[in-house]
Amino acid sequence: MSSIQIIVGSMLGGTEYVAEACEEVFQNHNHTIDLHLMPKFSTIIDQSFQDDPSEKVIWLVCTSTHGAGEYPDNLKAFADDLLNTDQDLSTVNFLTIAVGDSSYDTFCKAGKDITKLLISKGCKEINSILTLDMSQEIDPEDLAQQWIETNMDRI
Ligand SMILES: Cc1cc2nc3c(=O)[nH]c(=O)nc-3n(C[C@H](O)[C@H](O)[C@H](O)COP(=O)(O)O)c2cc1C
Repeated sequence: MSSIQIIVGSMLGGTEYVAEACEEVFQNHNHTIDLHLMPKFSTIIDQSFQDDPSEKVIWLVCTSTHGAGEYPDNLKAFADDLLNTDQDLSTVNFLTIAVGDSSYDTFCKAGKDITKLLISKGCKEINSILTLDMSQEIDPEDLAQQWIETNMDRI
């Protein structure tokens, strides 16, 4: 069993649907999940480490990109706190699902940036980032669910 924190960056709501679809997959595998639509770093740390210390800590970051390659507004404080923390995050294992639009030069930059930041803080990437191009994908929720399933043996 793992303790799973789903961290959502979204402005228009589309990425929330992707995150909720992933939550369903984890629920089907009987994991403990907290879904953070307004992610607060201190809360996520508390919930990651509060329970059974033998539980594996997993973070799934699902984020869109806005502005010119920027984090969605609701993820900015989390990203700042992550950048500035001294907390030991070496036991955090993570996956990133980046939602974007390939017509932008900065395709999925927020997801790519948060991935680099997590790695720089010692977190372990379970699998390479999944990018979802909303200008092409017909069913991004389904793709995200399939991808989570393929990672399940590492969670
Ligand atoms: C103002 C604006 C700026 C955007 N900038 C980017 C960008 O730099 N890179 C990218 O990949 N997608 C960009 N997008 C596309 C969004 O990431 C995409 O529409 C996504 O599905 C929005 O997700 P959300 O509904 O969760 O906010 C932008 C969209 C808008 C409206």
